[in-house]
Amino acid sequence: MDPRVLSPLDRLLELADSGLSASFARPASSRPTPGNPAAYPVDPGRRRYSAGLMRVNHAGEIAAQGLYHGQALTARSEETQDALRRAAAEEGDHLAWCRDRLDELGSRPSLLNPLWYAGSVVIGALAGLFGDTASLGFMAETERQVEGHLAAHLERLPADDARSRAIVEQMQADEIGHGQAAVAAGASTLPEPVPRIMRMAARVMTGTAYWI
Ligand SMILES: [Fe+2]
Ligand SMILES: [Fe+2]
Repeated sequence: MDPRVLSPLDRLLELADSGLSASFARPASSRPTPGNPAAYPVDPGRRRYSAGLMRVNHAGEIAAQGLYHGQALTARSEETQDALRRAAAEEGDHLAWCRDRLDELGSRPSLLNPLWYAGSVVIGALAGLFGDTASLGFMAETERQVEGHLAAHLERLPADDARSRAIVEQMQADEIGHGQAAVAAGASTLPEPVPRIMRMAARVMTGTAYWI
């Protein structure tokens, strides 16, 4: 048997390992964390608010890992599988930056991260079953929604939290690039109500991750 061919059990174990390390391990980033670590809100209430928003963003990046790993699982062509794994690796920087910022703000990640990861793997794998162009369409729509969500956070993050703002600004620029890459790779446009359901699911996650 070709040692590179993974059995379903191997794949399951690989996913469990990815999910656990995304949720609990200290992720490495390929680029330095944007902004100045010393810039944070002096007021404890504003600092807690910033931390809540960054916890939501961190949970979103955990979900992005899950979606891309799930989509790669059911992608048909090797090019699409590679594109999805590459996207997941690039999102690793965002994961690391949000995690760093939570530490700096004296806070913690969402306790439900393993749940966000597992749910996202299932959703991603289902999206992949509709074929590669639909799966890339799902990726483009995800990135579009994340970009809009980050834009809203930039309006809400305290003005004196320059570090969190710099992180979110760089993430936003990257997500726009990811969306464009998915469109360039042949993404189809998702029909309603799919984007609406995606927005609703994201709202449940972001609303919960702010607190838990
Ligand atoms: Fe991201
Ligand atoms: Fe992205």
